Amino acid sequence: MDRVPVWMMRQAGRYQPSYRAVREKVGFLELCRSPELIAQVTVAPIDELGFDAAILFSDILVHLPAMGLDLSFEKGEKGKGDGGPRIGNPVRTRADVEALRIPEPARDLGYVLEGVRAIRRALAGRVPLIGFVGGPFTVASYVVEGGSQGFTRLKTLLWNDPPAAHALFEKLTQAAIAQITAQIEAGAEAAQIFESWLGELAREDLEEFSFPYLVRLAEAVRKKGVPAIFFSTGTTSHLERLATLGYDVVSVDWRIPIADARARAPGVAIQGNYDSTLLLGPRDNAVARARAMLRAAGPAPGYIFNLGHGIQVGTPPENVKAVVDAVHAFGGGK
Ligand code: CP3
Repeated sequence: MDRVPVWMMRQAGRYQPSYRAVREKVGFLELCRSPELIAQVTVAPIDELGFDAAILFSDILVHLPAMGLDLSFEKGEKGKGDGGPRIGNPVRTRADVEALRIPEPARDLGYVLEGVRAIRRALAGRVPLIGFVGGPFTVASYVVEGGSQGFTRLKTLLWNDPPAAHALFEKLTQAAIAQITAQIEAGAEAAQIFESWLGELAREDLEEFSFPYLVRLAEAVRKKGVPAIFFSTGTTSHLERLATLGYDVVSVDWRIPIADARARAPGVAIQGNYDSTLLLGPRDNAVARARAMLRAAGPAPGYIFNLGHGIQVGTPPENVKAVVDAVHAFGGGK
């Protein structure tokens, strides 16, 4: 490709009128379980806004019911919703960890795989499809806290019962590998690992409780012959180390100048790191900042324009379109 590719995390979501229209009719989990609707909402941002890649519409938590956890999305389930995830029977003890089952994607998550196949048909080769799973630490935070309630319970599990914490990360890693492998076999052409909350951990705890599992996830993806993309936030102080875990692409958030990120991790492609709140603001500023970021990222290949984190609810789609168009018009930059 002769220009910088652009896609955006959470490019399918409530900022789009077309997504809100679907969500008027179905709950969030219902949407995630319908292959036809998955395909519709995954492809809509490509048609409407011109992104260079599609990301499977699903969630990092969809497999939890198959593991034995009672997952719901509060409020978001029926109405317009800012519903966050809720787990009725969170994992708190070693016995809870032992009771978790490893999902079998073909049996338990057939709707995701059917969705992947439906998306590939609908895209007809226009842009590649990125599959994804959650990273073990981020999924564990929901599983242990019972929802989006911080990290204290999970972190104290690390200190109080390290073997139980390792057993939990082991099971979540096995579950993630099973899912991402199945998505790739069904047609996903790249795989992103969402480890959104990894910045909560100190370096020594990353080394003990996270990196060994992330290395295995990267290996599993690359063994299937597709690029592995790593995403986290709040972790740029560990960038050089993250670049050694076996991923082809490492995402960076907006807290680091893009030129520094590229200079510090020359061996991997860099994805990021536009501040998603810029898209809420004046359109000319949003476009000017996108151009400035492209200039700062430099002409060397191995750069993907993306956000530092997901698109915010309330973002005007016209601003997104203006930034996508500006990235494309920048041209020749590689
Ligand atoms: O990026 C995309 O366009 C693909 C779809 C996608 C969703 N969730 C859809 C979604 C992806 C890649 C995810 C991953 C995900 N899910 C993450 C990691 C990414 C990140 O943003 O850090 C996390 C932490 C979750 C868990 C989750 N799902 C939360 C905390 C919430 C509620 C908060 C929110 O953003 O609304 C969800 C719900 C969710 N997942 C929505 C969407 C579009 C909103 C649901 C709705 O329609 O009401």
